[in-house]
Amino acid sequence: MSTNAPVRFLTGITTTGTPHLGNYVGALRPAVQASRRPGTENFYFLADYHALIKCDEPARVQRSTLEIAACWLAIGLDPEQVFFYRQSDIREIPELTWLLTCVTGKGLLNRAHAYKAQVDKNTAAGVDVDSDVTAGLFMYPVLMAADILMFKAHKIPVGRDQVQHIEMARDIAASFNHLYGEHLVLPEAAIDESVALLPGTDGRKMSKSYDNVIPLFAPREQMRRQIAAIVTDSSAPGEPKRVEGSALFQIYEAFASREETEQLRQAYADGISWADAKQTLFERIDREIAPMRERYDALMANPAEIERILLRGADKARALAAPLMAQLKDAVGLRNLATQAQAAKKKSAKAALPSFKQYRENDGLHYFKLVDAGGRLLAQSTGFASPQEAGHAVAQLKQGDIAQLGDVLRLAEHTSREDLEAALAAFANA
Ligand code: TRP
Repeated sequence: MSTNAPVRFLTGITTTGTPHLGNYVGALRPAVQASRRPGTENFYFLADYHALIKCDEPARVQRSTLEIAACWLAIGLDPEQVFFYRQSDIREIPELTWLLTCVTGKGLLNRAHAYKAQVDKNTAAGVDVDSDVTAGLFMYPVLMAADILMFKAHKIPVGRDQVQHIEMARDIAASFNHLYGEHLVLPEAAIDESVALLPGTDGRKMSKSYDNVIPLFAPREQMRRQIAAIVTDSSAPGEPKRVEGSALFQIYEAFASREETEQLRQAYADGISWADAKQTLFERIDREIAPMRERYDALMANPAEIERILLRGADKARALAAPLMAQLKDAVGLRNLATQAQAAKKKSAKAALPSFKQYRENDGLHYFKLVDAGGRLLAQSTGFASPQEAGHAVAQLKQGDIAQLGDVLRLAEHTSREDLEAALAAFANA
C-alpha cells in the first residue's frame, strides 16, 4: 500500500475550568493515546479565546490555562511529537476568523445550539430574545471553525454536543472554497463510541454545571473523600448490590481491566460494603493517576517551563498557519499593493499597444490598417478579397512574420520602416 498523507486530528479545550475525571476518561486519555498512532498528525490546543466567551475573570482564565496545559503534559502528551499550543498565541486564528465571518450566513449561526438555547430561555422568561447574548457567544462557531480550518484538520474528536460545530465549520469552509477556490479542507467529527461517559458523584453525567465532579489532580486525600461521597443506595454490608445504575461501578469500569471489573461485579453480588467498594475504586484510580499527579505537581510548580513549551509549540504551529493565512489573504484580495501596481502596469502597457483595424471599402475589398496607441495611422494594407484573408494577414503580422510586409502594407506618411517594425515587435512581446 502506498503511504498516504497523514490524517490530521485536532482537539481544543476551553480554558475555563479544572480538568476532572470525566474529562480525563472522555477526552484527555483517549487523545493522548491517539497521539501515538502512526500515520497521524495531532494538534492539541488551549482554547483561551473561547474561554473569554463564558468567563470574564482574568485570573481564572490564566489559572485554568496553566492547569489544562499541565494536565496534558502530565498525562503524557509529548510536545515534540504533536502540535501543542495556546490559541491566543496563533495570531492567524483571529485573522482567519474574520475572513470566515464574512462568508458565514447569519442564519447559520442563528441555528447554533448554544445560541438557540439562550434564545429559548429568554423567550420562556419573557425577556428580550438576545438578552445575555454577547456577539462572542453568537460567533463561537466561527472562531471554532478558524481553529480547525487554520490547520487543515481532517478529523475532530468531539462529544456529541460539539458535532453541530464541526458541521458548521464544514459549511463555512465550503462557502469559502466556493467563493475563492479550494483552499480549505472540509473537516469531519470523529466520535469514539467506546469512550465512556462518566457519571459524577451524584450519578448524573460528570459535569461542572452539575457540581458533581472529581478533579483529576486533586490531592490524594481529597480524591479519597470525594470518592467516598459518591451516591449509593442504602443496601447494608453483606447484602448483594446492583451494578446497574451504580455510578461507583461505572467509574470503576472506566479505569479497570476486564478481569478487575468482573471481580468487582462478583464482589457486588457477594455483598461488598459500600465503604470497601469505595476504597477499591479509590485505589484503582490512584494507581493510574498517582504518577501523573506527581508530574502535574512538578509542572504546576514551574509555570515558566510550561510557558516555554507553549511558545515553542506556537512557533511550530505558526509555521503552518502563517503561510496558509498569507495564501488566504491573497485569495480574498488583501494583497501587496506593489503586485497590484505591477498588474496595472502590464495592463497599461497593453493599452499602449498599436492596434489593427479591419474594415471594408466601397470597392468591395477588405482592408486593415495599423494605428499606434494614440490612434495615429502607421500603415495601411492592400485590399483583400475576403475578411478571412485580411484577418489571416493580420495574424501573421502579429506573430512577427514580416516576410511579406512590403507586399501587404503601405507605410503612412512620417512612418519609417523601423517605426513599423517596432510597433509589430510590441505584439510579439505583449
Ligand atoms: N468548543 C469546544 C468545547 O467547548 C472547544 C473547542 C474550541 C474546540 N475550538 C475547538 C474543540 C476546535 C475542537 C476543535 O469543548
